[in-house]
Amino acid sequence: MNQQSTLKPGYLLALSVAAAAVFCAPAWADGDPAKGKSKSAMCQGCHGIPGYRTAYPEVYSVPKLGGQQLDYMIHALHDYKSGARTHPSMRGIAATLSDQDIADLAAYYAGNSGK
Ligand code: HEC
Repeated sequence: MNQQSTLKPGYLLALSVAAAAVFCAPAWADGDPAKGKSKSAMCQGCHGIPGYRTAYPEVYSVPKLGGQQLDYMIHALHDYKSGARTHPSMRGIAATLSDQDIADLAAYYAGNSGK
């Protein structure tokens, strides 16, 4: 009987810790590759088709994203967003991305080695 009353506060504490983890995200949130994949549709037209090899890779005069370093991609996208990098198309794209979008996209492409 006593055990139940001591369990409950512990459960509530665990819940509030979980809530704090969700709402007080670190500077850069953890990326979810699955979400990144669905968000990458708008990148494919320029960066090729991720997930499998394109027939004409030489058509794309843009950097390959698959297999890039996670931190590098996150930095690059934040730099386009802030204007530290100035390429007009990428600035336009990055401006529409939230921090979470960037984290998800970077997680997706970084885990998608070399494609
Ligand atoms: C309109 C065409 C276009 C679209 C759409 C596009 N990009 Fe790009 N992206 C480029 C070009 C061109 C560059 C090279 C720009 C430069 O030289 O700074 C680039 C560069 C990048 C870089 C830097 C790579 C490096 O090696 O430094 C990243 C990261 C990137 N894009 C991610 C994305 C993501 C993620 C999306 C989708 C949300 C996206 N891009 C959509 C054209 C595009």
